[in-house]
Amino acid sequence: MILNWQSLRREAKRILPAFVFSYVDGGADDEKTLALNQSVFDRWQFAPSVLKDVSQRDLSCQIGDTKLRAPLLVAPTGYNGMLRHQADMMLVRAAAQQGIGHIQSTVSTASLEQLAEVSSGARWFQLYVLQDRRVTSDLIQRAQQAGCEALVVSVDAVHFGNRERDKAHYRRPMKLSLNALCDAAFHPRWLARTLIPHGMPGFGNLTPYLPAEYQQGMGAAAYFASQMDQTINWQTLKWIRELWSGPLYIKGITTVADEIKAQQAGADGVVLSNHGGRQLDSCISPMLILADVRRAVGRHFKLMIDSGFRRGTDIVKALALGADAVLLGRPLLYAVASGGEERASQTISNFIQEIDRTLAQLGCCSTADLHADMLIAVQ
Ligand SMILES: Cc1cc2nc3c(=O)[nH]c(=O)nc-3n(C[C@H](O)[C@H](O)[C@H](O)COP(=O)(O)O)c2cc1C
Repeated sequence: MILNWQSLRREAKRILPAFVFSYVDGGADDEKTLALNQSVFDRWQFAPSVLKDVSQRDLSCQIGDTKLRAPLLVAPTGYNGMLRHQADMMLVRAAAQQGIGHIQSTVSTASLEQLAEVSSGARWFQLYVLQDRRVTSDLIQRAQQAGCEALVVSVDAVHFGNRERDKAHYRRPMKLSLNALCDAAFHPRWLARTLIPHGMPGFGNLTPYLPAEYQQGMGAAAYFASQMDQTINWQTLKWIRELWSGPLYIKGITTVADEIKAQQAGADGVVLSNHGGRQLDSCISPMLILADVRRAVGRHFKLMIDSGFRRGTDIVKALALGADAVLLGRPLLYAVASGGEERASQTISNFIQEIDRTLAQLGCCSTADLHADMLIAVQ
């Protein structure tokens, strides 16, 4: 029975070949940050307020131009086509069904135009700045034309993390080991849904710019990695600000000082994130700076957060400390891999119910009623 994120994870592990499961589940180096991301929530416990009328509850919120039924967005994740064919479509439709936002990765399997066709829900675009600035500005223009309501620039992956759990399945970069290939052969459901009918997935947004010999799967991934621009700085953000007139958010901020620079560069908000523990190991959890960041930037700057959110109670703790919304990552990938669109939609619905129940138990009718005094720091 699928009760919670742990059962989703177990199901995904059973269905996916080890090399795909490790790609989704793994973190950088010794995975210390990956572990911290989940344990950090225990540092705060709730102090609920009783004897309050909580019969009418409303979780809706507004982030820039985007109205959400609950303060949740699907985090941008690349290469979802490895989980199953059309995983991106399933996730964007599940988000729309549940009235939450969806952020499409630069390296999604489906293109911007394909997702625009299948969903009328709130879609944002996550941008990686590539060395070729013409490609970067073309992606921004395409996001605008495809009706994306906001641009999220990820700044924490100019150099990819050292994901050893992932690497263990390759005999050399991009070449799977014999063990990994044999293991894949023993995952017939995944083969039937993913590889056999459709071949290795590609990168829908990048296809127009990729040289012919790098169009598919691993080759495209290697080419993309070589195109990440390591020279980007705060001036680059000002350049992007000029190209994109809608709400602009910066993802991958983990210090108060950078948060203030983001505000000065013209961003409308940030996503506090350590990329789910996949980049710098031993990086701080964004939960540990959230309250300080909120104090530093004031009430109106939009603060989103991700990395390790697995329960409604985790989300409510972040909202109480000053977040406006939370991005959901791996739990939705486990869901789509194991049960497609229906399970992704059910998982989002479960998160919404968990947030709603937590609010009621805390004596709150909306997220605006939450405040830091409802949390006691225990360590
Ligand atoms: C498989 C996978 C692929 C990801 N790809 C991207 C990406 O393309 N762009 C990006 O900004 N973040 C990417 N992320 C990071 C997520 O947006 C998010 O920050 C992270 O998943 C949050 O951690 P959590 O999943 O443990 O909650 C990826 C994460 C995973 C697990």
